Amino acid sequence: MSTDLSPKTNSHILLCGMSGAGKSFHEQQIVCKLALAEPDGEIYFADYKQDDSFAYLRGCPRYYAYKDTLKALDKVHDRLLARQSGKDASRNPVTLIWDEYMAQMLAHISEDKKATAVVMGKVSEILMLGRSLSVRLVISCQRPDALAFPAGSRLNYGVVVVLGAAVRSIYEMLLPDHMELVKGRQFGRGEGVVLLQGSELHYVKVPMVRDVPRMEEICIRALGGKE
Ligand SMILES: Nc1ncnc2c1ncn2[C@@H]1O[C@H](COP(=O)(O)OP(=O)(O)OP(=O)(O)O)[C@@H](O)[C@H]1O
Ligand SMILES: [Mg+2]
Repeated sequence: MSTDLSPKTNSHILLCGMSGAGKSFHEQQIVCKLALAEPDGEIYFADYKQDDSFAYLRGCPRYYAYKDTLKALDKVHDRLLARQSGKDASRNPVTLIWDEYMAQMLAHISEDKKATAVVMGKVSEILMLGRSLSVRLVISCQRPDALAFPAGSRLNYGVVVVLGAAVRSIYEMLLPDHMELVKGRQFGRGEGVVLLQGSELHYVKVPMVRDVPRMEEICIRALGGKE
């Protein structure tokens, strides 16, 4: 199965699944796919947990860890607004990949509710305006809580991926019209379902990566290289 991920379609991606489902691993494959498909693209990577699996990206100019992830959001959101206002005529694809978005929103909301609402507002704007301005969002989280995904907002994601062990509440929130197809199914690490443009449901298996150093090299280059 293949899908059109060009920014001309709704190519915002929501990637969910419990711990160990293979989300972070799959994000690196998404970086590689985008980098190879869009040589003029710009990828920003936000890693809230500062995950060990992304340690090799530290030092890349477009890699942002822990609370710096909000700087990545600002950069991408500023680009969106500059394009919207006409100040920036470029339309090369700009992508923000954000690992553990939900965990970060939950942590921030307990510290500062208003500031968190501003952050979520920027995310919503990217989701709404991104397609026509070639700005794309890839959000990854364990369980999408209604708090950070208000009613209907999942419709903004053209691609919804749920990996790993079946969790009813995740399916109910993201795939309410496809419960029959996932009921009773067992998925291992890297396996699951993908919902395309809110209608077609497919089973997916994230491929193994044979050449990990090459994958890492492509990701480093995609995030601006290292000194
Ligand atoms: N498709 C795959 N092929 C081979 N190994 C994989 C695959 N997917 C994940 N793994 C390995 O499984 C482990 C867990 O995967 P990963 O860290 O991506 O999970 P996660 O969903 O991001 O979990 P968490 O929510 O805890 O961050 C990692 O060691 C990763 O390298
Ligand atoms: Mg992870």
